[in-house]
Amino acid sequence: MKKKMISTILALSMVTAVLTGCSGSGSGTAATTAAKADTTTAAEAATTKADSADDSGKTLTIGFSQVGAESDWRTANTESMKSTFSAENGYNLIFDDAQQKQENQITAIRNFIQQEVDYIVLAPVTETGWDTVLQEAKDAGILVIIVDRMVNVSDDSLYTAWVGSDFELEGQKAAEWLNSFATAKGIDPKSLNIVDIQGTIGASAQIGRTKGLQDAVDKYGWNLLEATTGEFTQAKGQEVMESMLKSYDNINVVYCENDNEAFGAIDALEAAGKTVGSDIANGEVMVMSFDSTKASLTDVLSKKITLNTECNPLHGPRVEDIIKALEAGQTVDKKKYVDESIFAVDDTVKSVTVDGNSYDVTVVTQDVIDQRAY
Ligand code: AHR
Repeated sequence: MKKKMISTILALSMVTAVLTGCSGSGSGTAATTAAKADTTTAAEAATTKADSADDSGKTLTIGFSQVGAESDWRTANTESMKSTFSAENGYNLIFDDAQQKQENQITAIRNFIQQEVDYIVLAPVTETGWDTVLQEAKDAGILVIIVDRMVNVSDDSLYTAWVGSDFELEGQKAAEWLNSFATAKGIDPKSLNIVDIQGTIGASAQIGRTKGLQDAVDKYGWNLLEATTGEFTQAKGQEVMESMLKSYDNINVVYCENDNEAFGAIDALEAAGKTVGSDIANGEVMVMSFDSTKASLTDVLSKKITLNTECNPLHGPRVEDIIKALEAGQTVDKKKYVDESIFAVDDTVKSVTVDGNSYDVTVVTQDVIDQRAY
């Protein structure tokens, strides 16, 4: 209660300072810029930010609710957050692994509120279902930063900033690459028989990547035989692929919505006697994936994965930039997309165009793999 009263008083003075031009927020630039970004001003954030501003120089306590440990991407993301918000860097990180369950994340957020953390950082498992608990955080005067996947809330002021991937763009890049590759190889679009091993249903990464594929299926006339969730895990990816192979004998493209699903799918395909590769015309089954971890780029180099669209997990420093800007009373972008690459087995397609923007395709070499941080 004391925290909330102080917050309100300081919030009013910060708002006044901004309105009279005395605050640093007018000249302070956001730590980042983004094409699609709008912003949260210091004044908007002040209703919940004031207590931390009063605590400058003290260790900041960050409550981080992580989705789980379902993938190599997630492990790299956790590591990035832990190494950034370390005691040596002046933070007290309270880390919670929700084991892919939204109810666990809601419980974790309520615990963070009780512990009066300075910031709550949420990597949400799915987009919906956050209004109530984020309203509780707001009422308690605690700023919430969303990372990786997005939340879909009725009131945008329930979170201060979001940083993550443009998942639909990732799906569009992959689909446009497939169209260009098929065209270059003289493959009839109607002969492409695709299965989609989807991510966790309702997660932004699934919604965007599935939509990118589905839109291209409608546009180019490909056959989408089935779309089933592999829950972003290797075990489920393998299980779903095994089941799909029992249902269809004509699959020639497997669109995996993350690397671990791709690893499982490749195991299932090879166990079924299939050859994975890009030579669809001669019976190979093409595997496409997302994330671009070191292990998956190694599979691109050995031609098991044909295309890998990057999803960058190194969000720790990006979240820290937001927190540092807020601590300094600066304006931050409300939404910030990270730049991501496309990695392919060869240079058949040199670039893809989505919405008028061109994206280069990088051919995977050992040097490319050696330079990967995760
Ligand atoms: O939200 C990012 C996705 O979640 C990554 O593609 C996947 O590997 C992770 O589990």
